[in-house]
Amino acid sequence: AAGMLWGGRFTGAIDPLMNKYNASIQYDKALYKEDILGSIAFARANSKTGIISEDEFQTIECGLLQVMEEWKQGTFVIMPNDEDIHTANERRLGEIIGKDTAGKLHTGRSRNEQVVCDMRMWLRDRIKEIDCQLVAFLKVIVARAESEIDYLMPGYTHSQRAQPVRWGHWLMAHAAAFKQDLERLRQVFERVNLSPLGCGALAGNPFRINRNAIAEELGFSGITFNSMNTSADRDFIIEFLTWNSIFTNHISRWAEDLILYGTSEFGFLRLADSYATGSSLMPNKKNSDSLEILRGKSGRAFGQMAGLMMTMKGLPYCYAKDSQESWEPMLDSVEFVLDSLGIANGVITTLTVRPERMRAALDMTMLATDVAEWLVRKGVPFREAHHISGRIVALSENTEVSMDQLTLEQLQAIDSRFTADITAAFKYESSVEAKSAPGGTSRSAVLGQIQELRAILD
Ligand code: ARG
Repeated sequence: AAGMLWGGRFTGAIDPLMNKYNASIQYDKALYKEDILGSIAFARANSKTGIISEDEFQTIECGLLQVMEEWKQGTFVIMPNDEDIHTANERRLGEIIGKDTAGKLHTGRSRNEQVVCDMRMWLRDRIKEIDCQLVAFLKVIVARAESEIDYLMPGYTHSQRAQPVRWGHWLMAHAAAFKQDLERLRQVFERVNLSPLGCGALAGNPFRINRNAIAEELGFSGITFNSMNTSADRDFIIEFLTWNSIFTNHISRWAEDLILYGTSEFGFLRLADSYATGSSLMPNKKNSDSLEILRGKSGRAFGQMAGLMMTMKGLPYCYAKDSQESWEPMLDSVEFVLDSLGIANGVITTLTVRPERMRAALDMTMLATDVAEWLVRKGVPFREAHHISGRIVALSENTEVSMDQLTLEQLQAIDSRFTADITAAFKYESSVEAKSAPGGTSRSAVLGQIQELRAILD
């Protein structure tokens, strides 16, 4: 271990398995760029206070840019003692510009702040990408909701046919959840995008470093509040994983509806071949694997969130190596949520809807509430109207005559207040159009939702 960057007080060698177990370089090397930019900003700030000279800063910056180039070209060679991206970059810098000047890079600095800086920078940039993809996905949904607004379908509660709704309303129902995800993501961004640099290992910086100048150079919108908390805290990752749990939960429900609506039994829509797969045995099969994987990812997202919560629970302040466990869920969740958004976008862009099948799934009993509401408009108390309409449903079921085919005499035998204009209640379009309060399924109400969401997306 004497050969390690921190090896001064060590004499015995590190156990090879311990070296592998302890190292994070296999995955944190992905953040070489953030690490180098953070180092340059830190060295610049040190040169401003005079703790290192302007010349030394120039040499360090030049050397670090060369290290960055090696990573970009794929020529950077990871050495056995390169524990993590921070030590690897510093080791290589020493080889390029000489140990004396390179040895000044870490002045007043700790890996505890470096790791947080790298992760915060990387995550906030990925959040921007996720934001863009989520906006693109929502734009497709909104466009479909508008162009296909006149398709009617059954709305369900308890998985039973309930009331007719517009297909565009169903689209906007899920969009409403994704809209909240977008808003939440932007709030998470604000708390991720804070600079930890100048906090030291835990106690702070002794060289009057200008934390705000570093933050500005690195594109952070502010600085973290307390140095001890800065090295102890991984909330910024937990928050993202929590966001991802909620978002993938929404995606899973959206996918589940589409899987169901795509079955032969429903037949409301067909998935494009590009997002379906076949069976190795049954030639007839066309499976919704894209949607099933989307649905399945929510379990993984929730596991990552709960896992990191468990890791952080009870960890003594400030830093402990347990925190390193936050890397892999962060990297993995970002990768799969970006893929998921691409797939979800592709699925919704390419699927074919079958409005005739949606319409055929409507039945007259779904207008029983409208019959009750017709009576309410005639002055009948709703509870009584509900009961009367229920008797009409029962009559229709017992006689196997559709409700709109019952004669006025049959209706009047149940309640004498029925008149010929009750036929107005037996129209799916009128039922849907009646729901004109904001948020409802009438044309104008759905268009209102579309307009409101568009304003956020543009
Ligand atoms: N790889 C470490 C992590 O992810 C970097 C910080 C190491 N700090 C330390 N004091 N050993 O947590």
